Amino acid sequence: MTNYKRTLITTALPYANGPIHIGHLAGVYVPADIYARYLRLKNEDVIMIGGSDEHGVPITLKAKNEGVTPQDIVDRYHKIIKESFQKFGISFDVYSRTSSKIHYETASEFFRKLYDNGKLIEKTSEQYYDEENKQFLADRYIIGTCPKCSFEKAYGDQCEKCGTSLSSTELINPTSMISGNQPVLKETKHWYLPLDQYENWLREWILEGHKEWKPNVYGQCKSWIDGGLQPRAVTRDLDWGVPVPIEGTEGKVLYVWFDAPIGYISATKELTSDWEIYWKDPETRMLHFIGKDNIVFHCIIFPSVLKAEGTYNLPENVPANEFLNLENDKISTSRNWAVWLSEYLEEMPGKEDVLKYVLTANAPENKDNDFTWKDYQAKNNNELVAVLGNFVNRALVLVNKYFNGEVPVAGQFTNYDIEILSSILNIKNEVEKSLDNFRFREALKNAMDLARIGNKYLADEEPWKVVKTDIERVKTILNVCMQITANFTICFEPFLPFSMEKLRGLLNIGKMDWGKLGSTNLLTAGHKINSPELLFEKIEDETIDVQTQKLINTKKANKIDEITVRPAKENIEYDDFNKIDIRVGTVIEAEKMAKTRKLLKLKIDTGIDKRTVISGIAEYYEPKDLIGKQVSILTNLESKNLKGVGSQGMILCAENADGSLSIVSPEKNVKNGSEIK
Ligand code: MF3
Ligand code: ZN
Repeated sequence: MTNYKRTLITTALPYANGPIHIGHLAGVYVPADIYARYLRLKNEDVIMIGGSDEHGVPITLKAKNEGVTPQDIVDRYHKIIKESFQKFGISFDVYSRTSSKIHYETASEFFRKLYDNGKLIEKTSEQYYDEENKQFLADRYIIGTCPKCSFEKAYGDQCEKCGTSLSSTELINPTSMISGNQPVLKETKHWYLPLDQYENWLREWILEGHKEWKPNVYGQCKSWIDGGLQPRAVTRDLDWGVPVPIEGTEGKVLYVWFDAPIGYISATKELTSDWEIYWKDPETRMLHFIGKDNIVFHCIIFPSVLKAEGTYNLPENVPANEFLNLENDKISTSRNWAVWLSEYLEEMPGKEDVLKYVLTANAPENKDNDFTWKDYQAKNNNELVAVLGNFVNRALVLVNKYFNGEVPVAGQFTNYDIEILSSILNIKNEVEKSLDNFRFREALKNAMDLARIGNKYLADEEPWKVVKTDIERVKTILNVCMQITANFTICFEPFLPFSMEKLRGLLNIGKMDWGKLGSTNLLTAGHKINSPELLFEKIEDETIDVQTQKLINTKKANKIDEITVRPAKENIEYDDFNKIDIRVGTVIEAEKMAKTRKLLKLKIDTGIDKRTVISGIAEYYEPKDLIGKQVSILTNLESKNLKGVGSQGMILCAENADGSLSIVSPEKNVKNGSEIK
């Protein structure tokens, strides 16, 4: 679509059951934001839509686990998500939510229209039902073994191991997530979108008509369509969601994947009374920014819904990304394996643009990619600081030093000057070409090339040397440098909005349109700039170590969670137990055993006597912290010689899964010599 009048950008609505992490950002929000900012700079009519997806079983399950209502859960996360997007500078024109009144109305009306026009099929089928809780087990309320890959924890709607989308009746050994029981089959009525009837149309529209879509997107569509499409239920037996707007359907709601994309429409309504031109005018271009797990919903199902309704536009493109991994491991909310945006903003204040830069330079556009903290540090230090920041800083410092902060007049340009100045226009063309094709990492690299060219120019021309002999030449060189710097404020604006705002402050200029990019006279001679400040700061190893240590701790905690508890030992008679004599005693002396790493020598008041015990707890306790502490001691263990010292008994400890030891003490202080039984 080359002749469009306006653009509607939608961004996948994140589920309001957890905070935003770098995977969401790299896949959806950072590229969408770059694109929206780019179009705004070009003065195009564009709106960017966002909001929280507040329905679906993961939300009700979480509410149940925490003993709160689903509304409590979505209120909590909607707030966190919305605030962190705002601080991070994702420039939504509206950030709405699907529990809003306007969404309930919009989604019900939409369903009702399809229903009234005979676009839906009513069908009764057998679905799993939990008899104990008297509830149908939709989607993630049920787990079982995947029929395709044998993964034992596949959900009723999808196997996360092999990615296959499933229906719960396909699961082997289905189990209720609520009670853990075997569910039974029970009849229930639902409404279906007959996707099979849209197959030919989809084939033509996508496979013939949108060969320009990214290969990963096109390929997924092709394999879905070639595999044959089945009718899809658009309702569920649940009590959280938009109620089915038909008489006599209590306990039934719209399927989350039916109502959520309609959330884009509701959000547009919330933004503007002109919402219809963004959705229905054929001169509007709609783009869906999503991650790869959302492709089928945005390319096959939602377009079929829109087509069935009949008055809406279809997406023009769906620039879906692959996944971002973290330190070579799949990002996972449940395993806490992520860099959380809200934590990043707290722990790395002022570094919003650094994260945007790294996520764009490393964007998982055509294949899965990896985020590592080392790479984050390297990209900041070697690219933002050493290339872009360094050029800007040298240019600003020199203009302040030699010309009192006034942009000098350019004299006669050399061929080299002309080549440099014309490269700005070339770069503009390159960046545009990349952005127009949703190749964001390439676009950023192209923009960085301008900074590289600038640095080379300064290194070649050496104004700090020329100043001794030819001040007129220095004027020209620095005029060129200032023009390059001013051009940065345009070409980096979509990628690094906070830093470019700062740079405009340093240059004492306002925001300029994209059309000005390439101009060699953005700053007129005599224009006064402000004193220089660093645009980016070096990130030290210590800062990175804190972040990597956090991840190491997560790994450790996950490992402990994964370790299985040893099975019970064989039963014994009470008399066997009665043979052991465990008493409470107080530590009265404690010292490290010389030349050992693990051993402490303790003097214990057992109530019976005062005796010496050697204990292997030196890695976990400081001797001074033990003095006065009550412990349990096995007193009738044969004494043993350890490193030449006799040990009379054993201090009882609980051994944690990672092998660390924790002394077992009475919960309240008791008299020394008290028996433990
Ligand atoms: N909540 C979904 C996810 O995180 C995305 C919903 S996109 C929408 O995968 F189109 F449904 F809104
Ligand atoms: Zn599977």
